[in-house]
Amino acid sequence: MLTLADLAQLLVFMLPAYFANAAPVLFRTGRSKTPMDMKMRFYDSRRVLGEGKTWVGFFTGVVTGTAVGYATWALGMLRIYPTMEQHLLVAFLLSLGTMTGDVVGSFLKRRLAMKKGRPLFLMDQLSFYVAAILFVLPWRPQALDFAMFVALGAVTALVHYYANVIAYKAGLKKVPW
Ligand code: CTP
Ligand code: MG
Repeated sequence: MLTLADLAQLLVFMLPAYFANAAPVLFRTGRSKTPMDMKMRFYDSRRVLGEGKTWVGFFTGVVTGTAVGYATWALGMLRIYPTMEQHLLVAFLLSLGTMTGDVVGSFLKRRLAMKKGRPLFLMDQLSFYVAAILFVLPWRPQALDFAMFVALGAVTALVHYYANVIAYKAGLKKVPW
């Protein structure tokens, strides 16, 4: 049975991923920093990843997400792992998965000839989510079965959508997605 308490626990579980994803925007890391693809082009002569993916942004995401994971342990918000080390490792992998999925999403967008920052419905909202879960699959919470994965994905897409609208209104982003 899919319960609200399970969903709440899973949202706390996912906080490192959400904060990792938001960190480059919150900390405005993208401004005149070396892009991850070193400006290289793929066989289709388009950029491999584009200017929107920087190393500083990538590592800012991983560090921020891991720190948020530490906070959820320290505040006792999530106690499903026996030790802090295990909890932190999962938070780190969620954050690493998030930033990797975000890069994969941009790679696919460039292959579809989409310019940096153009919206691609579901890819923008969910590539990070799917990758984050994949990275922690062996250590996922018990409540995270397939039905929950789908439900949490839907909630994640909504949160991502509205968070970006807010970031846009707050002047942090040039576009509301
Ligand atoms: N960012 C970054 N490094 C990353 C991820 C994000 O510097 N690894 C910063 C960039 O300034 C980027 C912004 O965060 O423009 C927003 O990220 P995102 O929406 O993922 O990138 P887009 O600019 O929309 O580019 P894309 O079309 O490739 O998704
Ligand atoms: Mg974007």
